Amino acid sequence: MLELASQMKEAAAAVQARWSEQPVAGIILGTGLGRLADEIADSVAIPYADVPHFPQSTAIGHAGQLVCGQLAGRPVVAFQGRFHLYEGNSAQQAAMPVRLLQAMNVPAMIVSNAAGGLNPHYRVGDLMMIEDQINLQFDNPLIGVNDDNLGPRFPDMSAPYDIELQTQAAQIAQQADIELHRGVYVSVLGPNYETRAEYRMARQLGGDAVGMSTTPETTAARHAGMRVLGFSTITNVGSPDILSETDGHDVIAAADAASGKLRTIVEGVVSSF
Ligand code: 6GU
Repeated sequence: MLELASQMKEAAAAVQARWSEQPVAGIILGTGLGRLADEIADSVAIPYADVPHFPQSTAIGHAGQLVCGQLAGRPVVAFQGRFHLYEGNSAQQAAMPVRLLQAMNVPAMIVSNAAGGLNPHYRVGDLMMIEDQINLQFDNPLIGVNDDNLGPRFPDMSAPYDIELQTQAAQIAQQADIELHRGVYVSVLGPNYETRAEYRMARQLGGDAVGMSTTPETTAARHAGMRVLGFSTITNVGSPDILSETDGHDVIAAADAASGKLRTIVEGVVSSF
């Protein structure tokens, strides 16, 4: 991790050469949610290929660029496309966007994903605010020699998702009449969706939603001392014993259809930063 800090300083300099504002938040856009970036005004798009040391994103539903500009009147950096472990990235690579935000002194991160609903009360198109996480990816972005300038060797994870921001987001959702669940996100490696036995296990372990991302970014963000707010769009459901078939394109379509609700909440939170 020791060379990571200098690599991300170079990456930050490349971004700041094209866009010189101080962002108040970084937004990591999950599957099907990339269109949230369309709401960013006065935007400057920077392809990941132009950012030194950045991996390339190959996943469907992910564009692979930074979009810098104004959201709800506040400067933000959005990542359209993230780095999944199933693409062959390490958890440390998956957390590169977070390290870039850290190098730009960004104090908060909003992270989103598409996920399978484990909680039997969830329906396709529902939104879940992430209260807590279970990392079942068997990788961690903090593995390696710790850079004490980036964060502590053994970071606290007793409240990875910021309590105040959750309260604020819940209020915004209520005012806008948006149903917002709160639950535990379980991350797995993927790329296959769960077997029925795995799906049942994830529920029994305490999960409300299961997906293939987010925990590397949140772990690195907490290491960096950033405030984190997270959302899952529920794109497919099934009671554990009758899990329906899952298709990647249906997942993207369901996430896309629900993205308006997420946009309302994210804009409301960002406007208060
Ligand atoms: Cl059902 N499982 C996983 N692991 N990721 C997902 C999903 C399910 N639905 C959307 N993303």
